[in-house]
Amino acid sequence: MNFWVVVPMVLALIGLRFLKPGILLWLAAWWGGCFIFLRFGILPPLPSSIIGLFMAILTAALALYGTADADKLSAIGKSLRAFLMERRFAPWLWGSLVVIPLLVGFNAYRQATSEAVAPATGRTIHPAPPSEITFRGKKIDILKASNPFRELEGKDKAAFAGHVAGGRAIYYKNCVFCHGDNMEGDGLYSHGLDPQPANFADPTTIAMLQESYLFWRIAKGGPGLPEESAPWASAMPAWEATLGEDEIWDVILFLYSFTGRKPRAQERAE
Ligand code: HEC
Repeated sequence: MNFWVVVPMVLALIGLRFLKPGILLWLAAWWGGCFIFLRFGILPPLPSSIIGLFMAILTAALALYGTADADKLSAIGKSLRAFLMERRFAPWLWGSLVVIPLLVGFNAYRQATSEAVAPATGRTIHPAPPSEITFRGKKIDILKASNPFRELEGKDKAAFAGHVAGGRAIYYKNCVFCHGDNMEGDGLYSHGLDPQPANFADPTTIAMLQESYLFWRIAKGGPGLPEESAPWASAMPAWEATLGEDEIWDVILFLYSFTGRKPRAQERAE
């Protein structure tokens, strides 16, 4: 509620009771007051279609009230005639002749000059992955697949380090241009891209995703995103064409090892 509008308006309507104006002025004051309340008094602003609806109902109600009995009707007729004919109202009459077209003109001007803004589009950054993908002709179950080299971390440290090193070479050959030296999504090319490359240092990316999810995203890239992520103009390439299955698992190991993050645990089906 915008009190700077509502309080003076309520005071003005209360003041009107004591002034005892003619019925015509009274109806006009209520009509105008309600319009000002709906248009400027409510925050956040109401859509104009709702204001139009309320004002139509209010107009009908005021018309009903004004014509409900013969006394009011003749009083309205008298006020109207006085307003149109009597000398003392002439300045008001001429004033309204000028003010009403000015208001309409101003409104038309405002509508014609208001800037069109494209509606904001929400997008799903992490859509649900497909349950299965076909990687170079081989079916991979994204819900169950896990990184085959992850278990080396505990068992064979040297072999694990070898896979991480392989992943590092792949990263600096292919990914660094977009995802950046520090994996913060600020590589050389990133400035021209929208959406920006994913920032792997940010806890809302790889730290909350499973390794199989990354496999899907790296293999299928932006083109592989489902409908619900549209409109996407993701520049993330589909690496299936360039990198083998093991190479993708290697680069995934490197993403986690470099950022010091842990992948989200695989959900185990009982
Ligand atoms: C041409 C620029 C570009 C290159 C090169 C690139 N990416 Fe991306 N990548 C993106 C963009 C842009 C996004 C964000 C939009 C999206 O999710 O598709 C992204 C998203 C991702 C995501 C999804 C992260 C998330 O939170 O959902 C992963 C994983 C990823 N990239 C890995 C890689 C790997 C690994 C490489 C190298 C083999 C690579 N990217 C190379 C542009 C690139």
